This record gives sequence, structure tokens and C-alpha cells, in this order.
Amino acid sequence: MNRENFRQKFHIEPKKGLINDPNGLIFYKGEYHFFYQHSPEECNHLNKQWSHIKSKDLISWEELPPALKPTDYFDKNGCYSGSAIEKDGKLYLLYTGNVKENGVRTPYQVLAESEDGINFKKTAILLKTFEKGYTAHFRDPKVYKENGEYHFILGAQRENLTGTALKYSSKNLLDWEFKGELIHGEDFGYMVECPDLITLEDKQILLCSPQGIEPQGEKYKNRYQSGYILGGKTLEESNFLFKDFIELDRGFEFYAPQTFKDEKGRTILVGWMGMPEEEEHPTVEDGWIHCLTLPRELKLIEDKLYQIPLVEFEKLRKSEIMYKELRVEKEFSTPIILGTTYEMKIDFEKVEEDFSIYLRASKDEREKTIFSYNYSENSLTLDRKSSGEGYKGERKVYLDKQLESIHIFMDSSSVEIFVNGGREVFTARIYPKVESENIKIVCEKEIVIKKLEFYSI
Ligand code: FRU
Repeated sequence: MNRENFRQKFHIEPKKGLINDPNGLIFYKGEYHFFYQHSPEECNHLNKQWSHIKSKDLISWEELPPALKPTDYFDKNGCYSGSAIEKDGKLYLLYTGNVKENGVRTPYQVLAESEDGINFKKTAILLKTFEKGYTAHFRDPKVYKENGEYHFILGAQRENLTGTALKYSSKNLLDWEFKGELIHGEDFGYMVECPDLITLEDKQILLCSPQGIEPQGEKYKNRYQSGYILGGKTLEESNFLFKDFIELDRGFEFYAPQTFKDEKGRTILVGWMGMPEEEEHPTVEDGWIHCLTLPRELKLIEDKLYQIPLVEFEKLRKSEIMYKELRVEKEFSTPIILGTTYEMKIDFEKVEEDFSIYLRASKDEREKTIFSYNYSENSLTLDRKSSGEGYKGERKVYLDKQLESIHIFMDSSSVEIFVNGGREVFTARIYPKVESENIKIVCEKEIVIKKLEFYSI
């Protein structure tokens, strides 16, 4: 079996080894710099380094030498997740040095810096251990500047084994003062990883990845979750509680997202298209696994966080097929709409019956990924039970608005579906055969599609 067919065309993935969290996302001196957690030799979570790539347009990337390697006593078991900030023209990285000796973990929060954005020097240990009242699960500093001061927030576990996020502040990036907890309540699982704080429409929003949340109906069905809580105008006015937590993704592989603000003022989010402890993806046999999600612009609309595919990705469009007022009676497929990598956007006026879209279907339709709409429930389901190799299952979301649009980005071994302009998103890895390239829309009687756009990539 040739697993090279699963190589992604327009997603960031490793040539070799395992990647996880996006780290240090920043627009620095005219270029986008992305770093990510990378175990460069093997598909495991040992020896994490910060691999480094940069781009002018978020489409074509140049590989740079790894920025951080686990070569020091304070990070010898991994340069764990963190973030980036520019100060006086220099690029600074804040990360967690993970040390584990005889099963005892010690987290160090470390500062590294670079004059040229390429060569980094580890220059200071900012915190040598964890705070009193917490455990050694104390990591993932996300740094930002506000009112002339620096701050970072950190994922943490309390001594009573409940998850929270903490805040530290500094005037100079070197001396840090503990400011307390951002998440109150003790129902946020046993650990909160990768917290991130953003402001949109004058509101504070906390993004985080809690562990230990129990499934509830169609919610929280993945091993771990990633989501957000909407706060008030200021941190003081914000009360981040689990009851207000909303999952960012409705699919399968989505974890540890990080955001950054670019020069256009956009808040852009990138997630890890993977999940901890789920390493049985087919490409492991060839020594590589996981990728990052497409970067998405975040917007707060009607107090909901929307994820919108970046306009940059329109440059990937190779050909265009468009239908207007397309009447689908029982089924629709055409030999000109097919492929293994494509973008497809469907707009509806009003849908009043169930329908399904077969994606990456084989000729005999034994292999297919199904995205379906249930009218009476006003729900959408992604079904990868017959997608091909890899993990199976289905995920569903109940919409809180009428269905207006479905926007699909299909890469060689993943699918990202943006519903109603990004109000809901499904992200998943799928591993179909390369011959499975058919697309079909099926409904009970008739649906009318206001506009269907299809672009090969
Ligand atoms: C999240 C995470 C982080 C940690 C990193 C290690 O996926 O567990 O908390 O810093 O991955 O790779």
C-alpha cells in the first residue's frame, strides 16, 4: 500500500515523525513564522523540538532549522508548547521546558530570543518550578502585550487535580509576577492545556483545551476538547466558567489551537489536526503522522466565535465550476465535479428535507465519507464509518440557525467543513483510496441549491 497518497497538498505536515501543537505563531518582519511541536525521528511524544517554517503568503512555506531542541537540563525531555512575541525588533519565544526524572516532572518556563528570526538562543529561565497549590502540570505560556505590560497565561492543574489557567505579568519579559487564576470553578476537567486569551468586538475570549470532560449527548465526544468561553469587556469583568464552554470543532481531530494577530489586524487560529493518545493513523507505518489545520480567521458574530477560511486559500483554486439554482431531484453527480483535493461551496435558500453529500466516494460507493443534514432535527452529521483506513465513527451538531451554507476543503487525507460561514466547523482525518474521488448529493425528493462552486486544488 502506498501511503504517499495520504501526503497532504495544502496542509502543514512533517516529512518524518510526529507533530502536534502549533507554537509561536507570529507575523514578524514581514513574514509569517510558524513553529510546531515535533518529535522528528519517531511517531511518539518524546524529544519534542520546535520545528520552524516561514511564509510570505501563508500558502508556500520555507523550512528553517529547528528553533528549539531539547538539549539543556531544563528542557531535556522536551521543548513543550509556547508562544512568540516581538520586542525592540527581536523575536522572543516563551516555552515550557519539560523535565521528567524517575517519573517526577519539573516544568520550567523558558525564554529564548533571536535577532534574525532564525537562530535562537535560550536566554533565561523565567519560572524554575510550579506555583504553590498546583501540580507539575504547569505549561504552555501564551504571551501578549497590553497597556505597555507583558502577560502570559498558562495551563495548570490544582493540587486537588482540577484544571485551570493562570496569569503572570511582567514589565520587561524577564521578571514575572503571579496574578492568579483565570478559570474559576472546579468542573473544568483535571487539566487545562494551551490556554489563549483574545479580544474581539471589545470582549475577552478564553480559548483552551481541557482534559477530563465527560461526553454529554453529542458534545465532548473526542478524547480531549478544545473550545472557548466568552467573557466581558475586561478580565476583571469576565467569569470563565465551564457551563459557558463551547467546542470549537464538531469533528474528530482538532486540539491545542493557538491564535495570533497579523499585520492586517486579523486574529488567525491554527489547530493541531490530531489528538493526544490517538496515534493509530495509517501513516505511522511509514514513520510520519498528523498535520496542522488550515489557518482560519476568527470573528465574533452574535456572540459566537466564527472560524472563516482565509481569503489567501482562494489562490489554490485551479479551475472553477459553478451552478446557480441547481435543482437536485433524488441525486446529483457529474463527471466534472470530482477529485481528491478540492474546495466546494454550497449555498442554500431554504432546505426542507434531509440530504447527504458523499465525499471521496469510490465507484461502487462502498467507500465514502458522508456529510448529511437532518431537517427535522436541524442537525448535521459527519460519518467516516466507511471513509477508508483509519479511525471510524460519526459526529453530529444541532444547528442553532437555519442551514445556509456548507464550505468544504478536501485535502488528500483530511476534510474541513465550514457551516454557515464558519459558525460551526467539522475537522477530520480520513484515509480513502486515491481512486475514491466521486462526489454526489442525494436527497429524498428535491432540494434547491442556490449556488454550488467547485474548485480543484
Ligand atoms: C498539548 C500538549 C501541551 C504540551 C505539548 C507537548 O497537546 O500536551 O500541553 O506542551 O502538547 O508536546
